[in-house]
Amino acid sequence: MIKPVIAANWKMHKTVREAVAFAAVIKEKLGNLGDRSVVIAPPFTALSQVAEIIKDSMIDLAAQNVHDKAEGPYTGEISGKMLADIGCNYVIVGHSERRILFGETDGFINSKILSCVQFGLKPIFCVGETLPERKAEKTFIVIERQIKEGLKNLSDGDIRSVVCAYEPVWAIGTGQTAAPQQAQEVHAFIRGVMGKIFGRKIPNTIPILYGGSVNHHNIRSLMAQPDVNGALVGGASLDIENFTKVVQF
Ligand code: PGA
Repeated sequence: MIKPVIAANWKMHKTVREAVAFAAVIKEKLGNLGDRSVVIAPPFTALSQVAEIIKDSMIDLAAQNVHDKAEGPYTGEISGKMLADIGCNYVIVGHSERRILFGETDGFINSKILSCVQFGLKPIFCVGETLPERKAEKTFIVIERQIKEGLKNLSDGDIRSVVCAYEPVWAIGTGQTAAPQQAQEVHAFIRGVMGKIFGRKIPNTIPILYGGSVNHHNIRSLMAQPDVNGALVGGASLDIENFTKVVQF
């Protein structure tokens, strides 16, 4: 049985003061749930202070991005070494906004994942097809490529710290969530592809989250699917009432 993971992706929202206040309420309401993991991903500017707020709770901290090198002349970038240093446990890697708006390739994403595991960070590795790709019946081809390229050269030990997130691009921020059966179909496929790479047993321990317009109305039916082990929540994670309801599905 995989413990459910509900992760809040705040994207480019919230000042430090707003993030700290929000984290304090989340800690109070959801800070000692033992049967599910709650992860919050504030913007970089708020990470250190949110880390302080949640340090004595069961809430985990994620960054929204990372560079693949540990240090060096990469102006504006932040490394896994730096994130581990301030108490991050997770990093969102390969989000479609980074792939599409910032040109991140499967190879770069793979390199980031390798760097995460090197510094003890759990990558929340996002994959997902665009609407044209789904319409052209290329969903499985695209997902298989993203998984195979993204997880290249990971050892059996490394893969155990990976969390995968299936986020169909057409469902992100659109209010148009995937039907639970559509999500299940792709999640099962992802587990199968991982099984081919890492052996049959390992994928059964890897959480596969669904992301794309998750809210408190649809979370329960998504979580009822056997291969859906949690959610990566954008818009609905920005409001405390909504997010609390999602976590307590
Ligand atoms: P959304 O975003 O919940 O607002 O659709 C999800 C995500 O991008 O991770």
